[in-house]
Amino acid sequence: MTNDRQPSLPYFDILLQEMSAGGSELTQIFGEYTHWGYWSAPAMADGSIEDYKSASAALSRLVCDTANIGNGSQVLEVGCGFGGTIAALNDRFCDLELVGLNIDDRQLAIAIENIVPKNGNQVNFVCADACDLPFADRSFDVVLAIECIFHFPSRDRFFQEARRVLKPGGCLVLTDFIPREDFLPVYRLSGLVQDAIVAYTFGDVDIKFPLSAYRDLARKTGLMPTVENDITLNTLPTYSVLRYLCENRDNWLERFHYPAIAMAELAAQMGWMRYFLLSFAIADR
Ligand SMILES: C[S@@+](CC[C@H](N)C(=O)[O-])C[C@H]1O[C@@H](n2cnc3c(N)ncnc32)[C@H](O)[C@@H]1O
Repeated sequence: MTNDRQPSLPYFDILLQEMSAGGSELTQIFGEYTHWGYWSAPAMADGSIEDYKSASAALSRLVCDTANIGNGSQVLEVGCGFGGTIAALNDRFCDLELVGLNIDDRQLAIAIENIVPKNGNQVNFVCADACDLPFADRSFDVVLAIECIFHFPSRDRFFQEARRVLKPGGCLVLTDFIPREDFLPVYRLSGLVQDAIVAYTFGDVDIKFPLSAYRDLARKTGLMPTVENDITLNTLPTYSVLRYLCENRDNWLERFHYPAIAMAELAAQMGWMRYFLLSFAIADR
């Protein structure tokens, strides 16, 4: 299935181009999981490709463990990238029903090629918008959204859809970049320039949704926040690797990705923009 409503994802355009050219350091780092790393001991990060890969696997594992995924779970991962988390769950558990959903069929083609169901698991990939899920009500125990909700056309619509497809007792677990409340006015003032810098590298992105807005949205949707973990410090080594990758681009135009990375690093170090792990359970009404 293809999708006509392809959002702007410049970083994936570069990744896919380099994958089809045979690979690069960038694709080694982001060709499986395409997200920030999680270091339980950030001071021990060594900046190597192997270290980054185990940190990105650790972030995925943290999300899955927060969702209490176990043998037999029915799991929907929206914005599933190249399917790294689906592959890890397929390796780790049995009798799962796994669905990876992405709006970008180019990424799904790679996931489909790389992932062979095992351990009695069923694995399916679906090309669709996370805000318009093509599944029946109450189909999944878990909905995962790792580092992708900021791309969606509407967090509101996605929460309604996630709530609809979750079974009673199910949960939604996600990670997102969340601005500190008192920083939002400054952030909005610096608006256009900052938005243009972010868009040049990351495409359609909305990272102006504070924690209080998540709490309001959850309440409105019939979900209840159960985990709100600020893991910014555990993700900080990500930035030196990203800076290294930008500095070493052969194509000088691509060095213009550096400002987005430097800006994100400063915001994370200053605590203006934090990286959160959030979990929501279905609220009793
Ligand atoms: C930063 S990547 C994260 C990928 C994956 N979750 C991971 O952790 O490796 C963001 C993902 O969101 C996907 N995406 C963007 N907009 C989407 C939408 N409206 N519906 C579904 N997926 C979307 C992108 O194609 C991309 O795979």
